[in-house]
Amino acid sequence: MEPVVKCQDLWKIYHSGKVEVPALRGVELEVREGEFVAIMGPSGCGKSTLLYVLGGLTPPSSGRVLVDGNDLGEMSDGERTLLRRRKIGFVFQRFNLLPTLSAFGNIAIAQNIQGDGFDPHRFEVTVDLLGLKERLHHKPSELSGGEQQRVAIARAVVTDPKIVLADEPTGNLDSQNSEAVLKMLKHLNQELGQTLVMITHNPEAAAYAERILHMRDGRILEPVAAPLPDPG
Ligand SMILES: Nc1ncnc2c1ncn2[C@@H]1O[C@H](COP(=O)(O)OP(=O)(O)O)[C@@H](O)[C@H]1O
Ligand SMILES: [Mg+2]
Repeated sequence: MEPVVKCQDLWKIYHSGKVEVPALRGVELEVREGEFVAIMGPSGCGKSTLLYVLGGLTPPSSGRVLVDGNDLGEMSDGERTLLRRRKIGFVFQRFNLLPTLSAFGNIAIAQNIQGDGFDPHRFEVTVDLLGLKERLHHKPSELSGGEQQRVAIARAVVTDPKIVLADEPTGNLDSQNSEAVLKMLKHLNQELGQTLVMITHNPEAAAYAERILHMRDGRILEPVAAPLPDPG
């Protein structure tokens, strides 16, 4: 089967003033359907840049990214935006919820933006899985950090995306909330088969994934291909 995400010789060079900052230096990566992959590495090694390039938020300087078989470099801005809405869910360290909307509104808006209308069944399954049933009518400011991140995860998965890209999802949480959020991500992967790529610099968080890749200086160090499926 086609990998959900494939990237080949991916480079990203930022220009800040006269200085060139090579954030990605030839990344090769494949993520297969149903995988939970963690990408670990020290601050500044290019993790966030990689996630933004994979998600079509930032164009690479060179190299190819395919998402669900679509070459991002060959698409128009409009096509990329649609692909992002339909097939990719993002989770950020800072939750990025809309402060004036309730939890319900923040989750439901993702389905509206996606354009396929509201799917009550998917909504209910998502909210149940993330333990948010009793919190739906609260605004973000009335929720704990862990609850806000669970709302953000619900918003990311409610559209049934091909892949969820999470950038340090527990970076702003205490250890108890981190554990709850990581357990839920694992649950989403195991129960719904949700494909996930999670960036973290925390080995304990990475341990929730089934495959851990290490990044240094804009490169992924470990094997590039996913392990073959277990024949048994
Ligand atoms: N918008 C930008 N403009 C210039 N340099 C950037 C920009 N974003 C990131 N960088 C630089 O690129 C490198 C990788 O950054 P980043 O992808 O954020 O790493 P990480 O997420 O692993 O901490 C760093 O040296 C960072 O300073
Ligand atoms: Mg980062």
